[in-house]
Amino acid sequence: MSKVTLGPQTLVYPKPAFLVGADVDNKPNFLAVAWGGVACGTPPMISVAIRYSRFTLKGIRQTGSFSVNITSKGLALETDYCGVVSGSKTNKVIDCDFKIFYGNLTHAPMIEQYPINLECNVVHLLQLGSHYLAIGEVLETYISEDCLTNGEPDVMKVNPISYIEGQPGDYYCLGEKVSKAFQHAKKFKKK
Ligand SMILES: Cc1cc2nc3c(=O)[nH]c(=O)nc-3n(C[C@H](O)[C@H](O)[C@H](O)COP(=O)(O)O)c2cc1C
Repeated sequence: MSKVTLGPQTLVYPKPAFLVGADVDNKPNFLAVAWGGVACGTPPMISVAIRYSRFTLKGIRQTGSFSVNITSKGLALETDYCGVVSGSKTNKVIDCDFKIFYGNLTHAPMIEQYPINLECNVVHLLQLGSHYLAIGEVLETYISEDCLTNGEPDVMKVNPISYIEGQPGDYYCLGEKVSKAFQHAKKFKKK
């Protein structure tokens, strides 16, 4: 085996590229987030790592809520825009023609055009270093009807994208299916 060291890095694949939303000073704003994922199953929780300077973080702290909006391939450019421009300088909702809706939480704005929207109530806000880790309990999940097959979420219809770090990085869609999951325990004998 031959390995080289790269120093401490957060090098895990794939990372998501979704939009996290919050009302900042009562106006909806969104930023792109790659450093996020599932934090707990019961109750269902999502974590997002957000740098101190982000305008959206101000809204998360003001309201104690946020949304996660899953990006599909056709929304990559809007997602990227929300990841390079700050809501402190422009209204990204207007710039991107986002249609906003709210669920049970009055300050977790969600975007109609994004196929899946998670409405989250902040349960922990941890200062870790360069980033705050906001952990939100998912109170409701919304999915576009045209992303369902037989009443179940169909990932091929959602067509989500991943962000792969680099200089400057790239967006990818899902690749080929490799195998069924949770099926292979019998093929390996305990030694
Ligand atoms: C693909 C992508 C992923 C990003 N991931 C994160 C992230 O996980 N955390 C973060 O704080 N900023 C992340 N950013 C940067 C913010 O989205 C960006 O600074 C944004 O303009 C902040 O918007 P705001 O100031 O309106 O909140 C990412 C940007 C891109 C393009």
